[in-house]
Amino acid sequence: MNTPVPPAGAKIDRAALPALFAPRGVDTHKGSFGTVGVLGGGPGMTGAALLAARAALKTGAGKVLVGFAQEAPPLACDPLQPELMLRDARSLLEEDWGVTVWVAGCGIGAGTLAANALSELFVLRRGSPLVLDADGLNLLARGDIQPGWGPGPVVLTPHPAEAGRLLGASTADVQADRPGAARELAGRYGAWIVLKGAGTVVCPPQGELRINTSGNPGLATAGTGDVLAGMLGSLIAQNLPLDQAVAGAVWLHGAAADALVAQGIGPIGLTAGELADAARGLRNTG
Ligand code: APR
Ligand code: MG
Repeated sequence: MNTPVPPAGAKIDRAALPALFAPRGVDTHKGSFGTVGVLGGGPGMTGAALLAARAALKTGAGKVLVGFAQEAPPLACDPLQPELMLRDARSLLEEDWGVTVWVAGCGIGAGTLAANALSELFVLRRGSPLVLDADGLNLLARGDIQPGWGPGPVVLTPHPAEAGRLLGASTADVQADRPGAARELAGRYGAWIVLKGAGTVVCPPQGELRINTSGNPGLATAGTGDVLAGMLGSLIAQNLPLDQAVAGAVWLHGAAADALVAQGIGPIGLTAGELADAARGLRNTG
């Protein structure tokens, strides 16, 4: 008897994401849509945290704060997005801003300040969902921070090289078996894994993984990962069911890139910041 071929993984497409397009209730207010805290943006990487934060706002979060991993906040205000509240990491972590979902790691850097801030966040988040990206994953792979992030959902968003570092494997090994790499990471960390790249794999801590169908090579440009991290935090903060929020952000991010390409804004020269505007349009028009 032939061994059955395992399923490649269910697809993530628009039809699988009703929560993404559910209308807002008339009596909602900004508290209904969560407060996202973005912890990132170390020296020279201010833009990574801003991209994540702007994307969180434009995909519907009620309030968004940034805590820059710098001794002092590099900006008092984001002139392009003055709705954002900009602080330093210490202020974001140690004062009570009512953060409901954390997005951490975008451009946070690899130094002591970054490692200390993330370790402090793991203690104080007390069950709030956490999206951990980029340098946060590299610090984890190096053992500079421990995965003692306590209860509550955690989403790790490695690109293939980051996944390889976490697994102690090469990027080529990860790419040779993307579903296997995602499952291994999900089991090891007890977290949702978003393994990025063409055909992003979304794997829950337990259960069946799914493969995204949207996106294009226009996304191969700096900062698009930061935008995805912000969108994940935003949809989780808006209380979509967690599986719809994670899969929804991944699909919306790719679909936004597809919409931009259809308008001639890419694939060549598509910029990460433009994704958030396109994603907003898709959420509002369906
Ligand atoms: N097809 C579809 N999607 C793609 C493609 C492609 N050919 N290329 C890239 N993408 C998508 C990925 O799936 C992911 O969502 O674009 C995004 C790229 O994310 P990252 O690789 O994290 O890129 P970036 O935003 O530059 O990361 C910023 O994180 O990885 C670190 O060193 C990096 O510090 C930098 C920061
Ligand atoms: Mg990245």
